[in-house]
Amino acid sequence: MQGDAYLKCIDSQCGLEYPITNTNVQCDNGHLLDVKYKNKPNESLKEVFAHRGQMDKNIIFNESGVWRFRELLNFCEIDTENVEECSKYLVSLDGAEGRQSKPYHMTKASSFIGIPSDKLWLQPEGYNPSGSFKDNGMATAVTHAKMVGAKKIVCASTGNTSASAGMFAANEGIQCDVYIPAGQIAPGKLSQAYQFGAQIVEVDGNFDDALKQSLEDAKNHDGYTVNSINPFRIEGQKTIPYRALEYLGWESPDWIVYPGGALGNTSSCGKALMELYEWGWIKKIPRIAVINSEGASTLSDLYNGKFQGEELRWNKGKPNADLVCQYYDHLDNEGIRPKTKATAIQIGRPANILKGLRALEFTNGVVTTVTDAEMLDGMAVVGLNGFDCEMASGASVAGIKKLIEQEIIKKDDVVVGILTGRQKDAMLPVDYHNDPNNRFAIPPKI
Ligand code: F0G
Repeated sequence: MQGDAYLKCIDSQCGLEYPITNTNVQCDNGHLLDVKYKNKPNESLKEVFAHRGQMDKNIIFNESGVWRFRELLNFCEIDTENVEECSKYLVSLDGAEGRQSKPYHMTKASSFIGIPSDKLWLQPEGYNPSGSFKDNGMATAVTHAKMVGAKKIVCASTGNTSASAGMFAANEGIQCDVYIPAGQIAPGKLSQAYQFGAQIVEVDGNFDDALKQSLEDAKNHDGYTVNSINPFRIEGQKTIPYRALEYLGWESPDWIVYPGGALGNTSSCGKALMELYEWGWIKKIPRIAVINSEGASTLSDLYNGKFQGEELRWNKGKPNADLVCQYYDHLDNEGIRPKTKATAIQIGRPANILKGLRALEFTNGVVTTVTDAEMLDGMAVVGLNGFDCEMASGASVAGIKKLIEQEIIKKDDVVVGILTGRQKDAMLPVDYHNDPNNRFAIPPKI
């Protein structure tokens, strides 16, 4: 195989390889794929990235919080210093993706959680152009779509993926079909998909049903799938931990905490850390904590041995995939549907579960659940610090609090929590604050 970048199946016994122009999101045996690079990037690039962020602001690829790190995602195999070549290949919202997101201290959140304020960092990925972390991975997925000459991108979504896909498609002048679970996505997200001219396909079912239908339709009608099952999405989302680590002087925190849905974030964080550690760019591996909603807790149930008593593990590339199938059968047979007000993470079949397990094994990670009420408190306290986030992002705050209370996260640990999206469900804060029983409620005066 030519070149530096290629695709490889993640299953240790299968391991099929494909050229980088391959557009199937899975290998021929139905396993997930990784983008791989043969060459190790030189650590002196850390200086280049820092310089790009501060000095070369007239070049959009240096302003971009994604493409600033382009040597670490160079699946296009371009000359990364050549601006003309970057312009030809790399898809960007004028450098705005990832540009505004970095970790912040939020004192009211840290006192709610019970952690010293200098130990807690929260990174608002809602400050992306479409309002969520998805823009990080959409920049790279649409770059690959353009590289292979795709005319139409397709996704299923609980709302943020469709908003991001719609925005990038409109910018690039390509078609975009979005499959959404009818009546189950936040109004602000739905309106974005319309606003950016996406073709909406309403699916009578939940996100898992929408994903199934969108994957079939993409295959049969020449669509390019941009869900996180696409390995090129994962590449762009690696820049979320890159920005956190860079901000911390490449000193690893003890923990990185994400809400868990389809587990694209967990997978990309794991891949980023595996690569950085292998190259010697970080000396310590942060532990990943994934926070499921109590009403959509597939990963937590399987990881924590709540189904058939077996704790599902990556097991060095030999996970018990049958257990996952049995769990899904159990959900179907019992008529159990994922249910949470945090619709962004109302997902029963996380498409990236095996990559998620790999990330958890590499980082000695943990998985837990939080209730809707806990997520709403997390969301509210972020607001009181003057930052915006949506309910699913409140899971990071609520999850850190729970793990501190359980003494899994220690009080002097350094923690980075990712706030995945901004508020797009306008009535949630209104309803929260109108109920005086809520912990942070400031009800209106009459
Ligand atoms: N937080 C927000 C705000 C999200 O929109 C999502 C996923 C997640 C967390 C979960 O991230 O899938 O990487 O584990 N939203 C998807 C969508 C599914 O369609 O917008 P994950």
